[in-house]
Amino acid sequence: MSVIKKLLSRFGYQIVKRQPNLEGISKNRAENFPRWLEEANAEGMDVNDFINSKVGNPSELLEKIVFPYFTDSTNIVIEVGPGTGRFSREILDKLRTRNESRLYLVDHSQWIATFLTQYFENEDRVESIQNDGLSFPGIPDSCADLIFSNGVFIELNLSRFYTYCNESYRTLKPGGYLIFNYIDLGFDQAWEHMKKFSENPRFSFSYFTSSVIDRVFMEKGFRLVSRSLIGNSTYVVYQKPS
Ligand SMILES: C[S@@+](CC[C@H](N)C(=O)[O-])C[C@H]1O[C@@H](n2cnc3c(N)ncnc32)[C@H](O)[C@@H]1O
Repeated sequence: MSVIKKLLSRFGYQIVKRQPNLEGISKNRAENFPRWLEEANAEGMDVNDFINSKVGNPSELLEKIVFPYFTDSTNIVIEVGPGTGRFSREILDKLRTRNESRLYLVDHSQWIATFLTQYFENEDRVESIQNDGLSFPGIPDSCADLIFSNGVFIELNLSRFYTYCNESYRTLKPGGYLIFNYIDLGFDQAWEHMKKFSENPRFSFSYFTSSVIDRVFMEKGFRLVSRSLIGNSTYVVYQKPS
């Protein structure tokens, strides 16, 4: 607990984050996040702490898959499909001490983009952008050190991989990294996942093999750095050549 929080609590006060006001904002494409926010509010919890309590904390994954690609000069990061920002807030913690750092959060849902603007309202480094599901509007060419996306490409069709591949190449600096997960049928876990979820009409995951995904990214000019199975999905790291 910070000194200020301790001091306030001695006098019976506590700092409470202002609740985002999302009245009238369309929940279209916001997936389960509006419901999770309601449930978290009912329990008096931060929504990201609430989601982590259900699905697990993302720190270990970030330490293993993303932070090894942070160098001393990493200061511009793009996250695609951040949901309510449970990964974003940890990435932000890494960027906070870095000069001129910036975290762009890009999501196609108006509800998510509005939520994130309010959730990170005191963080000058964060910019929440609502996109068209294809592009990174307003993000300059060759500016980003790293692009990360969790739980998004597992839902996309291949033509979206292609458009995000082009946008990532445009916005990454030479030497910058693109890291995301998808479901790779080269692994038995992915086959089992496909068989299990094929029976559920509410789910629409997409399944590919590494050769298809590599073709999209390597034809553009990306270099494959690593590919690792974690749970049911595969995290892949591509680098834009220096
Ligand atoms: C399953 S959630 C993952 C949220 C977060 N990354 C996490 O792992 O907790 C998918 C997120 O991607 C967003 N999304 C889905 N398709 C998208 C697209 N084509 N472009 C941008 N955002 C998208 C959704 O609005 C949602 O925020």
